Amino acid sequence: MEFSIKQGIPDKQRSGCVVVGVYEGGKLPAATQLLDKAAKHAIKDLVARGDMSGKSASTLLLHKLPGIAAERVLLAGLGKPGELDNKTSVEILRAVFTALNGTPAKTAALYLIDEGFGKDAATSTSSGQAWIIRQAVFAAAEQAFRADGLKSKPGKAATLKNITFTTLDKPAAALKPVLDQAAATAHGMELAKTLGNLPGNVCTPAYLAARALALGKAHKSIKTTVLEEKDMQKLGMGSLLSVTRGSEQPAKLITLEYHGADKKQKPIVLVGKGITFDSGGISLKPGAEMDEMKYDMCGAASVLGTMQAIAELGLKLNVVGVIPACENLPSGRATKPGDIVTSMSGQTIEILNTDAEGRLILCDALTYSAKFNPDTVIDIATLTGACVIALGHVASGLFSNEDKLAKELLAAGEQAHDRAWQLPLWEDYQPLLDSNFADMQNIGGRAGGTITAACFLSRFTKDYRWAHLDIAGTAWKSGKEKGATGRPVPLLTQYLINRAGGK
Ligand code: BES
Ligand code: MN
Ligand code: ZN
Repeated sequence: MEFSIKQGIPDKQRSGCVVVGVYEGGKLPAATQLLDKAAKHAIKDLVARGDMSGKSASTLLLHKLPGIAAERVLLAGLGKPGELDNKTSVEILRAVFTALNGTPAKTAALYLIDEGFGKDAATSTSSGQAWIIRQAVFAAAEQAFRADGLKSKPGKAATLKNITFTTLDKPAAALKPVLDQAAATAHGMELAKTLGNLPGNVCTPAYLAARALALGKAHKSIKTTVLEEKDMQKLGMGSLLSVTRGSEQPAKLITLEYHGADKKQKPIVLVGKGITFDSGGISLKPGAEMDEMKYDMCGAASVLGTMQAIAELGLKLNVVGVIPACENLPSGRATKPGDIVTSMSGQTIEILNTDAEGRLILCDALTYSAKFNPDTVIDIATLTGACVIALGHVASGLFSNEDKLAKELLAAGEQAHDRAWQLPLWEDYQPLLDSNFADMQNIGGRAGGTITAACFLSRFTKDYRWAHLDIAGTAWKSGKEKGATGRPVPLLTQYLINRAGGK
């Protein structure tokens, strides 16, 4: 899918479909008025007769309007003037691309970032136009995404190939980089979604390693290395290795080093939980919906998607991706509740529940990350079911040992509409991890389960600035819409774009 931005007259667009807005109550934005005039008021007539209410996210497709160069015109309801907020903007864009997807149009010209739409969507960190462009690109990519690659007869690919954001006035020069950033982010999300949706028998730790190596091949700026279990043994990663004991698939520790800036510049390290299937281990999970634990590598997938996005953009900064990848399965060799292991940091851990395995692989990956002399470390993990209870499927949970970093991540989340919500990392919660036999235990009980998981990780991140994103509720959707979301690639990529100095 190609995206572009240009100035143009609505009735003169030689496009498969021109998209213009209609407000509830009959008011027409300037572009729609021009189109209406050229079409001898066909649009005003439709609105007057009640065929198009202008209700937000309603659409009406028109064919071959007289006086209009485009083959089709799609009217998009914008709701009442002045009432457009971020949520409805996204709903409108989704409705637009659903409608476009139902037509054979290969190209579309969208008059959606001019008047009204776009102005109201401004956040404190982003102009409304930039915000709408990002969300439109994400909505277009979402519509084009197919998850049926493993069906014997996969469905048709989307026909819409070229999307132009058309404006009446000359578009601001700053919008072109926003468009490129959004497209690269959408490609990164697509990779994250594809990997997330793959079943556990395909997407194994070795498969993730192969995909990471392929990213290194595709981008000169990325160098991938893969450590084997014997290497992890040498590094003393007893915690990570305790999780993979029950599995026949060898664990992998994958690192991707992206060099976009001076070698001396400290990197930002992204650590992604890569449990390619989480059965719970000996603390076996119940059967219902256990298949969804193939998504337990969505943190890893978001790291790969983000690395791809920044390489595509050639961002001027250094970023390292670290992915501990393994399966969590029961067997005669598997780690048992009560077992005590020694982490790479030297701290000992009493494993009271083998299903709290994410923190066990992350703690060693976080200790390992210090070797990159990081500016900042951010880990991303489908870590706790409790996070889904706390925040639902809207916000990712955010923790940080530095408030400035937390604020920057929250702001990036707003900008990309991939939001997070900060939870406390107060010392008061730490005693819940006290163990009689080891330096700590790996669970803190039911109360504050998301927070105690983050507290566990915080014991391994004292030497650097660090944030933790719990994406258990946001990385995938369940039920009829089951599928990976590609989150938090938008948040992470936006944060890195901001860090590289581009807005
Ligand atoms: N991968 C799960 C977390 C999870 C569960 C994410 C359900 C999304 C939906 C994690 O490894 C896990 O099993 N966590 C346990 C921790 C508990 C044993 C302290 C949980 O949340 O139940
Ligand atoms: Mn688990
Ligand atoms: Zn897990």
